[in-house]
Formats: sequence, structure tokens, C-alpha cells
Amino acid sequence: HNKLTVSELAEKLNKEASEIIKKLMFLGVMATKNQDLDDDTIELICAEFDVEVEKEIILEDTDFDKYIEEDKQEDLIERPAVVTIMGHVDHGKTTLLDSIRHTKVTAGEAGGITQHIGAYQVENDGKKITFLDTPGHAAFTSMRSRGAQVTDVAILVVAADDGVMPQTVEAINHAKAAEVPIIVAVNKMDKEGANPDRVMQELTEYELIPEDWGGDTIFVNLSAIKGEGIDELLEMIVLVSEVEELKANPHTTAFGTVIDAQLDKGRGSVATLLVQNGTLHVSDSIVVGNTHGRVRAMVNDLGKRVNNAGPSTPVEITGLNDVPQAGDQFLVFKDEKKARQIGEARQQKQIQENRGEQTKVSLDDLFEQI
Ligand code: GTP
Ligand code: MG
Repeated sequence: HNKLTVSELAEKLNKEASEIIKKLMFLGVMATKNQDLDDDTIELICAEFDVEVEKEIILEDTDFDKYIEEDKQEDLIERPAVVTIMGHVDHGKTTLLDSIRHTKVTAGEAGGITQHIGAYQVENDGKKITFLDTPGHAAFTSMRSRGAQVTDVAILVVAADDGVMPQTVEAINHAKAAEVPIIVAVNKMDKEGANPDRVMQELTEYELIPEDWGGDTIFVNLSAIKGEGIDELLEMIVLVSEVEELKANPHTTAFGTVIDAQLDKGRGSVATLLVQNGTLHVSDSIVVGNTHGRVRAMVNDLGKRVNNAGPSTPVEITGLNDVPQAGDQFLVFKDEKKARQIGEARQQKQIQENRGEQTKVSLDDLFEQI
């Protein structure tokens, strides 16, 4: 496509063919009037004349699906489950995760409210489990609405002294829409006024019925603060995820989802990625949402520098040209040039879409108003 001869280009630029030929000579290319020019050369000539080329963007070429090769069955091996902790504000999601990690993230958090999604990996009985903490459900919602499914199991935290609250219901709806199995963690059992029966009763309304009552939902009573019930919860997570037979191919180029991203004064664009398939390496050429770059450095959930990250592993990376959004997908390309081209095309496409959005109202927007 896009082929032009020297004289055709001259005509478009309102120049003499001889002027083009002269410029080409400077660039070390001997050409005749009827010679075909490729895209890169056309762009160079245009730049010489201070003309900006509007590159043709072939929209479907920016689709990651086109570049993801199907894995061979024999390459697939077991991968850790990705577990998202959800629930109403203050019901103890972060404390539960702390307790699982035996750390104290809450103490250092601004105002005790989860600012970013924390993504952590723990090992239980030799099996790794990846946990995602959610500040409210904004990121989870945006991930789901953009088709990114990252979660294998949802832990619904409900405070035993507070019961089902609006965000509890929201969390149930998200998990159900994503068709993710739910384990109910009835938290704050140490508190006076803790009433786990009431929580069970309230949840029957949402078809979360405990096994004792003839249903198939797993309930675990716990106290995140005291570390009670944690082992049982981990056992249940392993049980539920085993049924799902979660597999991935570690021997391919990585793809996955952005869990969180921000601009750091010193480090530039910093993105927390969850690798969902393949293995991510330092210096990989990567397209992330509508931006791209090369993985400069990778840090794991313990803040340690690592050189590669396999399936279900969360890592923080630097080296992107811009800040992507939570829920964006990423894909590694073997060819750096290809990564750049696709990254740039996706950026252009987004700019065009943003322009369009100013005048157009989507159906979703209309529904949101109701
Ligand atoms: P957001 O991130 O703001 O949605 O809250 P969260 O669900 O992460 O709750 P967080 O872990 O920050 O806990 C909220 C409060 O409940 C804190 O003061 C915790 O100390 C307290 N808390 C959490 N778990 C327990 C528990 O098992 N027992 C008691 N007594 N208090 C708890
Ligand atoms: Mg929290």
C-alpha cells in the first residue's frame, strides 16, 4: 500500500521531481522519476520539506489478538490462582491481606485507606497464590468493563458486626458478572456483636448459600486482626482454584493486564502488571494499552529487582513512554520496531477516538444517565 513514485510525490508536495531527486541523493539514494518510494523514504523526504505525514492507520492491526499465538496443549503448566479481595469499605480487606502476608501494610497507608491496588504473591503449602487488594471496586470495574478478566477467585469480605452493605452487593454483582467463584470471608469475628448467622442469612438473598444450608458457597469465619481462620481460608482458596485447572505457558512472549500505574517523579511511568501468560523479561519490547516502551527495570511484590516474571506474577515495571490505565492489556513483541509501530498506532487511534467522543454519546453514557 501507500506506494508513490518520485514524480507523484513531487506533485503532492508541489515541488519539481528534480528537487526530490536531489534530496534523495543527500540521503544516499540514487533515484529516477518513476522510482517507487517506500513509506520510510517518503516520510524522510516530507520531513526535509517540513511537511508532516499523516500516517495511515490500519485499525485492526492494532488488535493484540492478531499477535497472540495459540499455546500448544503440551506447553501449558499449572499457574498460581489470582484471587481478588473485595468487600465493603472498612470490612477488613487490607488487614486480611496483611494477615496473609504477615506484614503490616495498613500502618503505612495514608489514612488507612487503600490507595493503589496492592498485588502480592504468597506461598501456602508449596503452592503460590496471587492476591489483588482493591480500593473500593473502581479498578476492578474498569478492568471488567474493558474485557480484561484477571481474577480466578473472589474473596468477599463481610464484617460480622456490620453485615451486608451496599459495596458488598456491588462486589457480588461484579464477581457474578465475571463468573468468578466467590468465597465468603466473614471477618471481625473477634468483635463484640459479631453475628455470622446474620451475614449468612443476608447473603442468601444473593444466592450465596452456605453448604450447611444446602447451598454450595464456602464461608470461612475469621479475624484478620488476630490471624484466626487464615489457614482455613487459604485451604479453601487452593481447593476452589484446583477445580478450575488454571494453566499457562511460561515459554512464550508475555501478555497480561495493568493493575495500577502512575507517574513517578524520579522513575517516570511506573506500572504494576499482572503477567497472565508467557514470561516477561527485562528489556522486552512491550505495548501497554496505548503506550509502549522497553522494560527498563522490574521489581516484584517484595520490592526486589527481578529479571523475569512468569504467569500470575505481579511486577512493577519502568520504561514506558507514557502512563497506561488500570485494566489496559499489555503484550510483548519480539521485534522492537513492531512494538513501536503498534504502540504508536494505538496511541493515534485513541486520539482519534477521543476526538470522536466529544461529539458522540455512547449508548453506555445514555444508560448511565437513567
Ligand atoms: P478500604 O480499603 O478502605 O475499603 O478498607 P478495608 O476493607 O481494606 O479495611 P481495613 O483492612 O483497612 O480495616 C478497616 C478497619 O477494621 C481497621 O481499623 C482494622 O484494624 C479493622 N479490622 C480489620 N479486620 C479486623 C478484625 O478482624 N477484627 C477487628 N476487631 N478489627 C478489624
Ligand atoms: Mg483496604
